[in-house]
Amino acid sequence: MMTLDRGVHQRTRIPRTRPYPPRASTPLGPCVQAHPRNRRNVKLGTLLLIFTFACVACFGSAYYLFRTRWGTLPDHLRALYADSAPFEANTSICDDNTHGRRAPIDPNERFLAYLPHSGFNNQRIAFENALVLSRILNRTLIVPPVRLGDKPVPYFPLDRLSRTLALAEKNGLGHCAHVPPGLSTPPECSDYFDFSHIPWDWLIDLSLVKSKQKLLCRWSFAEGWFNDILGISENQTFLMRDHNLYHYRFVDNVGSSNRNNGYLEDVSIDALVQRKQKLLLFGSLFGSARLQFHREEHLEMRREIREAMLIAHPILNRISTSISKALGDAYLAIHLRASESKFERASEPNSREIWWTLIHQFLNLTLDDTSRLERIIQNNERGVTAMELNRLNSPNRVPLNDTERSALDMASGSVCPRSQMYASAQSLLGNNPPLLYIATDLRDTRNHPLLLRFRAFFPCTFDLSNFSSHLTLLNQLVNPVDGLPLRRHFLPFVDALIASKAVRVAGTRGSTFSYYIEDILWRRNHDLPIKQRGTF
Ligand SMILES: *[C@@H]1O[C@H](CO)[C@@H](O)[C@H](O)[C@H]1NC(C)=O
Ligand SMILES: *[C@@H]1O[C@H](CO)[C@@H](O)[C@H](O)[C@H]1NC(C)=O
Ligand SMILES: *[C@@H]1O[C@H](CO)[C@@H](O)[C@H](O)[C@H]1NC(C)=O
Ligand SMILES: *[C@@H]1O[C@H](CO)[C@@H](O)[C@H](O)[C@H]1NC(C)=O
Ligand SMILES: *[C@@H]1O[C@H](CO)[C@@H](O)[C@H](O)[C@H]1NC(C)=O
Ligand SMILES: *[C@@H]1O[C@H](CO)[C@@H](O)[C@H](O)[C@H]1NC(C)=O
Repeated sequence: MMTLDRGVHQRTRIPRTRPYPPRASTPLGPCVQAHPRNRRNVKLGTLLLIFTFACVACFGSAYYLFRTRWGTLPDHLRALYADSAPFEANTSICDDNTHGRRAPIDPNERFLAYLPHSGFNNQRIAFENALVLSRILNRTLIVPPVRLGDKPVPYFPLDRLSRTLALAEKNGLGHCAHVPPGLSTPPECSDYFDFSHIPWDWLIDLSLVKSKQKLLCRWSFAEGWFNDILGISENQTFLMRDHNLYHYRFVDNVGSSNRNNGYLEDVSIDALVQRKQKLLLFGSLFGSARLQFHREEHLEMRREIREAMLIAHPILNRISTSISKALGDAYLAIHLRASESKFERASEPNSREIWWTLIHQFLNLTLDDTSRLERIIQNNERGVTAMELNRLNSPNRVPLNDTERSALDMASGSVCPRSQMYASAQSLLGNNPPLLYIATDLRDTRNHPLLLRFRAFFPCTFDLSNFSSHLTLLNQLVNPVDGLPLRRHFLPFVDALIASKAVRVAGTRGSTFSYYIEDILWRRNHDLPIKQRGTF
């Protein structure tokens, strides 16, 4: 069964201990109350004055930010928006052309909403499923923002996830971005800098999707949002309360489908079509096998939506293209996820498997030769056990063809010195070692032990740290709604895009982000049909 990329087994302390609903009217509170004892201290009078001024200033910004929705930005923030938004500054589905008023709604319009959770790619899979479902059901999809950051909201059953998302918002916390240096962070700001919400169409070009179905941006998870914005009360809502991450699976032919792939309950699409409530509200829609389709038109719809899931931010594309060019447009790539929870635990076998993919599958060394090479590199005599071989040896490997090989040779020939190691393996290979790009979430890539086996065989390895001069464009990207720089959050996308431009890429077992790169991004870059891993 597919496991979540991030967060599920991690901390569950997402809800702040902030009162709910947030006290929007007291942005000055924390600033003043934080230092009550300073007041009688004359020497600190000046400080207090500066302090008060800062509070007033932060109140000003907080007011702006609290009032701000996409599209109702004041001019000075609109400039930031124009720089950060991928397309025309006013084309996001989250642009608010109603200026905060309730949007007029077609009385026949029906809606579908779901609750997002976990890391970026799991949110993306849920979004993809939601797009497909809402298109089939002819309902407007209520689209949540993407949450970027290292501390994702984990999965919870519907009611708890709903509360958790409502608490993990930044409404009323605009002052956090403006706490003067030297002052301690007010408690309500403790996780302000951990994450940032952006609209989906900042990353993904939704124009084709929008031409086929209606989308509506949900900018807030506050309780009552559906009623306040859409005028939909609870008695017009059909709730599908999931109790478990793999609870509901949606099928278009009840009965005949295989039952045992981990979901508890099958729900027929036809039954959902019959639902007349204005709003269908789901919990999690994550899971590559959540939609089990047999009908051709449904499969086709899903393929079209999956194919649209490309990262289409012009600055991210520009940077990754320039780095790919610097590598001669011909290199091998790996995507190694190894720095959080389950990936860290499996990092040794995973990196070994990736290495085997490069050497045995792509470069077409025999099992014996690959194993011999590994012994030289790892400097041990243990070799490979039969069981390990089972995992390392892929029966349907597709070695590099001549075209790919000569492209790689050409790019590497001039740049790379032949290492000692390589000389000893030369008889096995005969060519120059290809350039290798390492996309990874590991820090300190230069000395990391997990990367040694790659560096030993590929004398010319690169990662993002070799291209910092290409990355300066990222510094200008700021999320105008919370004032946070987006560079840190966008780096993994740059890494993924570079890997997806490689001649071949090998990803991490069990990582849906790696599958996204291998099955969608890489294949689209090479004009191949995307792969639909719908089996789990
Ligand atoms: C989008 O915004 C630009 C300026 O920011 C403006 O010139 C243009 O007319 C707007 N387009 C639409 C469709 O509103
Ligand atoms: C889809 O829903 C819209 C209302 O949002 C309605 O006007 C249209 O007729 C529906 N289409 C079909 C095929 O039911
Ligand atoms: C739904 O609830 C609202 C109040 O929340 C009430 O005014 C309305 O009559 C109810 N409608 C139905 C069909 O029960
Ligand atoms: C891969 O190696 C085998 C021998 O181990 C050889 O028969 C085959 O032609 C090679 N394939 C390619 C595409 O180089
Ligand atoms: C080699 O593989 C690439 C796909 O990576 C393909 O586009 C190309 O046509 C292949 N070349 C030959 C000669 O088979
Ligand atoms: C990439 O950068 C590292 C230092 O960060 C350096 O040791 C390495 O030689 C560089 N790789 C290449 C191929 O230039």
